Amino acid sequence: MKIDVLALFPSMFEPVMSQSMMWKARDRGLLDFQAHDIRDYAVDKHRAVDDSPYGGGGGMILKPDVLVRAIEALKPDDQSPVILMSPQGRLLTHSVAVELSRHARLILVCGHYEGVDERVRELAINDEISIGDYVLTGGELAAMVLIDAVVRQIPGVLGAEGAQDRDSHSHGLGGLLEGPHYTRPAEFRGLGVPPVLTSGHHAEVDRWRRRQALKRTWQTRPDLLAGAELSDDDLAFLAGLIAEPGA
Ligand code: ADE
Repeated sequence: MKIDVLALFPSMFEPVMSQSMMWKARDRGLLDFQAHDIRDYAVDKHRAVDDSPYGGGGGMILKPDVLVRAIEALKPDDQSPVILMSPQGRLLTHSVAVELSRHARLILVCGHYEGVDERVRELAINDEISIGDYVLTGGELAAMVLIDAVVRQIPGVLGAEGAQDRDSHSHGLGGLLEGPHYTRPAEFRGLGVPPVLTSGHHAEVDRWRRRQALKRTWQTRPDLLAGAELSDDDLAFLAGLIAEPGA
């Protein structure tokens, strides 16, 4: 996958993109990442990228000529998403990340200040994504969140094949949150490990994990249960939880 980012602060990306899984993806040739400076496409003597809004009001607006020139310089093809990061976009979810991971190329445009001139959306943007219902100072951090969520879905990026299918929200978990995990030591500050995990009964471990995932989802994100893939056994377990919440 090739990802190009247009930003006013492109140097924010390298510290994140040169660590951990993002670096491994680049090192293995699975990700070609480049951050570009929007200001390089400003042509006036002050290299201005923003201007005050027509109609008055506070804040500055990113200029359409600069931003469209910057996007066109990346030569987007017809199939590739050109995504504006903004709090007005559709919400980034696991399924959006999976959908985006199937593209060979993404172009991410990071807004800043009050927003971008509307004509940029009309002329050069074909998708708009928000990472949550809050406003960030700029789109750079949001773009990094999107890149991380998308790139870990590319086959071969995570070491264990299919590891992303065990993640919270994944299809493998039927849209549930993951339950608790434990590692050595067997006892830590008086707290032990659930005996089933050391029993060696794989079917029992799987059943326990499924039930813990159901319990955690019910406790912290009950809204996710409406879209989850639930078996009769899951539904019976949830009915028990609802009847006896403390159990
Ligand atoms: N830019 C500012 N806030 C944002 C958000 N919530 N998501 C994506 N981009 C943003």
